[in-house]
Amino acid sequence: MILELKDVHSYYDKSHILNGVSLSVAQGTSVCLLGRNGVGKSTTMKTIMGMLNPGEHCRTEGSLLFEGKELAGLKSHAVARLGIAYVPQGRHIFPTLTTEENLRVASREGVDGSSKWNLASVYEFFPRLEERKDSKGDKLSGGEKQMLAVARGLMQNPRMMLLDEITEGLAPLIVDQLAVMVQNLIAQGVTILIAEQNVKFAMKVSSDCYILERGVIVHHQATNELSAETRKQYLGL
Ligand SMILES: Nc1ncnc2c1ncn2[C@@H]1O[C@H](COP(=O)(O)OP(=O)(O)O)[C@@H](O)[C@H]1O
Ligand SMILES: [Mg+2]
Repeated sequence: MILELKDVHSYYDKSHILNGVSLSVAQGTSVCLLGRNGVGKSTTMKTIMGMLNPGEHCRTEGSLLFEGKELAGLKSHAVARLGIAYVPQGRHIFPTLTTEENLRVASREGVDGSSKWNLASVYEFFPRLEERKDSKGDKLSGGEKQMLAVARGLMQNPRMMLLDEITEGLAPLIVDQLAVMVQNLIAQGVTILIAEQNVKFAMKVSSDCYILERGVIVHHQATNELSAETRKQYLGL
């Protein structure tokens, strides 16, 4: 397993948000965290990234192993340096920088010194971003912004990517394009943990899924085996 969470608890002040989350992601696979709004998907990702460590009214307990190393207690930049790229919910890109500048500032060698993902390979993977390379971030469409957010993650040459609700607010056609993009990433050997409410999308891009409800994993199954009943019970679909 590249990532293994064991009995993880996270708190914002006195609110107990994650209540014993355990999950694992195998190298080269794509795993999805599914659940309605507010169940703790983003909190799980922020916890992995060390954003709920003590100091800012937050706290995390439990074990989070990444390639056998304990993440608990590490600051975000240290987690990132181990090779985890986090694409936060809401397409965070620099609005006043061009597409290319957004990519350049994110560029970094991988932990193993790899630079497989650079401007040339990212443009090859996202031809649309090359067409838009001189456009400022705030001039891009929603789908382009999301592609840029993911591309910025790739520029870090990560061992693993966390993609938080990349389909949010996008038209179905764009969501389909993002599904193809994620499938291609998996084919390139990228390991992915994805948070989603869109089950159809999750079924296209992940092999394994965990369903969260109020900070608890209530279901774990192969994504394409999710029954209509389970989907209805936990996701309202
Ligand atoms: N900064 C914060 N301070 C206090 N509570 C928060 C904070 N961020 C999120 N929460 C609460 O944590 C719970 C889980 O939120 P979140 O992880 O964002 O859910 P999801 O990503 O599944 O929609 C929600 O009840 C939310 O209100
Ligand atoms: Mg969220």
